[in-house]
Amino acid sequence: MTHAPKPSSLAPDQTDGLEGIVVAHTQLSHIDGTKGRLIVKGVPVEDLAGEMCFEDAVAHLWAGQVDEDRAEPSLQPVFGKARQSAFSVVPTLLSCRQEPLSRMDRLALGLAALPITPDMPESIQITGAFPVLVSAAARIASGQDPVKPDPSLSTAADFLRMMTGAKPEQWAIDGLNRYLVTILDHGLNASTFTARVVASTRADVKYAVLAALGALSGPLHGGAPGPVLDMLDAVGSPDNAEKWISERLSGGHRLMGFGHRIYRTRDPRADVLKSGLRALAKTERLILAEAVEEAALRGLKAAKPNRQIDTNVEFYTAVLLDALGIDRTLFTPLFAMGRVAGWCAHTAEQKRTGKLIRPSSVYVGPMPDL
Ligand code: ACO
Repeated sequence: MTHAPKPSSLAPDQTDGLEGIVVAHTQLSHIDGTKGRLIVKGVPVEDLAGEMCFEDAVAHLWAGQVDEDRAEPSLQPVFGKARQSAFSVVPTLLSCRQEPLSRMDRLALGLAALPITPDMPESIQITGAFPVLVSAAARIASGQDPVKPDPSLSTAADFLRMMTGAKPEQWAIDGLNRYLVTILDHGLNASTFTARVVASTRADVKYAVLAALGALSGPLHGGAPGPVLDMLDAVGSPDNAEKWISERLSGGHRLMGFGHRIYRTRDPRADVLKSGLRALAKTERLILAEAVEEAALRGLKAAKPNRQIDTNVEFYTAVLLDALGIDRTLFTPLFAMGRVAGWCAHTAEQKRTGKLIRPSSVYVGPMPDL
């Protein structure tokens, strides 16, 4: 004989979604959700992006956490070497060529198959492997053969070259660097928390990153920019924005690219990416995006007057990556290609300073008669 739970006991309490609960101390990044600021290891994100290439920003983030024994001042040669080693997983990826797998599935498969060798720190091998895995996944999914890495190039330049098979132009390399640096790390978001939970069990970095990939795949986290582009396509022209947005909101739908658990104002990364777009001078798409953004902010204010919902990073991510010629099916894998550096840093920090993460739950199910 069991007692059914009281319906009211299933209601969320103040710990639902762990909102506002501190579960780690970190030296890596800090978000001020009220002022709309993101500090990455002491430096505002807007001072890193557009100023530093991916390798230098990762070296800044990793200093004192990951890879303390590296002799070379720059990460570029070691990431080049890691890309070369990672190409060894291409036969595994090719063996699944005919399977109906998404780009994310192929990325996870490649990562799981990546051999970790003792000659380089695991974080370098994994972060360095992502451009190879993402570009190989993309090319295999579209029926093309993967392109071998060129270890003499930068991460951004070689990724674009492996995607298309052609030498990329400098504006595209700069745009991709800006994107990768902007999304490097962002406090205890869902995927980073996932990586820390796995790292707290002393699991290998690879498994922390694989788990984080899973968390990133959801549309409420890293899966939003593809749907943002779908939304821009559906709106079609700036004069249709108001009507389209108001119909979506009155139908009870969420607008992708808006809202954030921490920011109660504009996500500063949105403007870092928007200024990158201005530099690319892709004006037509930008004019449409700005019209949709304005209509969305007006619509959200009217629909949710008690909640400050503003533009998040995913909105201009979609427009920037589209301008770089990246297909929307690759937006989440590309997010992972930048964020993996943050996951690795948090994994190292968790292993160094944290203990096993094992929270409690309140049981509200039936109880036996005692
Ligand atoms: N569009 C419409 N309504 C929204 C949106 C949105 N984008 N965001 C929040 N709301 C509404 C919810 O419907 C809810 O309304 P209700 O109280 O009337 O039910 C209220 O605001 C609170 O929503 P929660 O989900 O509880 O708020 P939370 O802070 O947990 O949400 C989240 C954050 C999940 C990002 C949310 O804003 C959202 O779904 N946004 C769209 C998806 C998106 O852009 N994700 C990318 C985030 S950035 C990143 O992860 C890299």
